[in-house]
Amino acid sequence: MSEQVIGRDGEIVKRDETVVRPLNRWSTTVHLLLQHLHDKGIENCPRLVTVEGEYNEVLTFVSGDCYDYPLQGAIASELALESAAKLLRRLHDASADFLSLHQHEDLVWMLPSREPYEVICHGDYSPYNVALSGEQVSGVFDFDTAHPAPRIWDVAYGVYCFAPFKTDPVDALGSLSEQVQRTRLFCDAYQLLEKDRQLLVDTMVMRLQTLVDFMHQQAQQGNAQFVANIRDGHDKAYIKDIDYIKENHQIITAGLLD
Ligand SMILES: Nc1ncnc2c1ncn2[C@@H]1O[C@H](COP(=O)(O)OP(=O)(O)OP(=O)(O)O)[C@@H](O)[C@H]1O
Ligand SMILES: [Mg+2]
Repeated sequence: MSEQVIGRDGEIVKRDETVVRPLNRWSTTVHLLLQHLHDKGIENCPRLVTVEGEYNEVLTFVSGDCYDYPLQGAIASELALESAAKLLRRLHDASADFLSLHQHEDLVWMLPSREPYEVICHGDYSPYNVALSGEQVSGVFDFDTAHPAPRIWDVAYGVYCFAPFKTDPVDALGSLSEQVQRTRLFCDAYQLLEKDRQLLVDTMVMRLQTLVDFMHQQAQQGNAQFVANIRDGHDKAYIKDIDYIKENHQIITAGLLD
């Protein structure tokens, strides 16, 4: 048996072809979602192998290359961007009947649900939560943040992460016009409707503000991970990005519409 730490200061371990991760209050709901996605023919996400005692879940390992910011190499390619958007569309379509099939169960999500409940959003659909085969996004993991919400809620966050509209000098990529072009490619590949394109920038701002508020609320309740995030200035970085997106509202929206 081989074991290798792959995340969160030793809390996430690759064991042979599985991943061992800590269980959370919402894990049973996430396991139902992963099973549902597989039942719908989505093989690009982990499967639950087993739950070990009270503390750990064992998931299948999603094969492929993993990346993080700054986006360089295959993850920065247009093919990665478009295949990421297409996979997000498939996840959303496959999840659309999840709530109606599980309406008699007590579902628990990490993040607050947001109406209208069109699909189950991944909640953190970003370059660091997908796996690539060459330049093609071939897998997705880390469903802890999944929650019911409209499609655009996830598309907005995906665009923010993949365009990316990040102002931090390490995380930023390309000029504004390149970011707008990448936003367009992502929305076209997702086949985002025109009414949602009109709302995309406002939704991006709301999505990021909701994230900042959630971080502050969790830190106030003593959640160590969020206390550390705020100490490291993550909330301030998001607030700068919100300002950047707001400043360029018109340019981004114009680039999305014909
Ligand atoms: N099922 C999986 N298949 C393949 N790789 C995985 C899987 N789950 C996790 N990983 C790898 O472990 C890393 C951390 O896991 P994950 O994204 O699930 O947790 P996280 O909460 O984002 O942790 P961290 O704070 O370390 O990013 C991922 O970036 C990925 O490289
Ligand atoms: Mg992750």
